Amino acid sequence: MRYAIISDIHSNLESLALFFKIIKNLKINKLICLGDLVGYNPNPNECIKFISSITNLEIIRGNHDRAVVYNDYYDFSEYAKEAVKWTIKILTKESMDYLKSLVRGPKIIDNIFAICHGSLVDEDNYLLSKHYTTDDFNWLIKNKIQLSFFGHTHYQIAFSLENEKSINTIKDNVIMLEKDKYYLINPGSIGQPRDNNPKAGFAVFDTETSRIDIIRYEYPINLTQNKILKNHLPEFLAYRLELGK
Ligand SMILES: [Fe+2]
Repeated sequence: MRYAIISDIHSNLESLALFFKIIKNLKINKLICLGDLVGYNPNPNECIKFISSITNLEIIRGNHDRAVVYNDYYDFSEYAKEAVKWTIKILTKESMDYLKSLVRGPKIIDNIFAICHGSLVDEDNYLLSKHYTTDDFNWLIKNKIQLSFFGHTHYQIAFSLENEKSINTIKDNVIMLEKDKYYLINPGSIGQPRDNNPKAGFAVFDTETSRIDIIRYEYPINLTQNKILKNHLPEFLAYRLELGK
């Protein structure tokens, strides 16, 4: 079985469309989406249409999806708030209904791995470094699951737990799963990378070979930026895309 794992699309149609083109050659059986379909960028309806048309899909909600559904974004940054308000205005009923149908993580997929938006214990947690991962590794041990994919930070990064005590950071592009280790993997963000690299990111997990490929690709950022400005979304949201911040 081959899974493609994506997160934090954030209404970025140019990047999402290119992602679907790229995976055509990757023999993917199932798509996994870790939430945040909307927010920040200018094409929420189009991105929802793309994702909702996928038949072999497992998906959970992100905090921006939740904010749009419940009109509740008190703890968001000013830029994020602006984008949520704009998104609520522009969303079709069909798109809103789709966002409402999304469930909160974590979710266990095919009895093989778990998925969550922020973390396994709280969808709003940020697993920014290995120092924040203890509760998630304990969750994996308790649930006898070796691996979880998470998003929310928009950083493409992975952590492993060895001998149930030593936690390591992995920055390799290829991760070969080892039987006695546990893993937390962030595939990166489709729509707004923040690890100082403007290229979009995703992961491919092959269960036959126990191999995870961590992938980056360039997309036409300038098209997304132009649309952000044209729709009078905050200028910073356009600027940050080219910085990867
Ligand atoms: Fe996000």
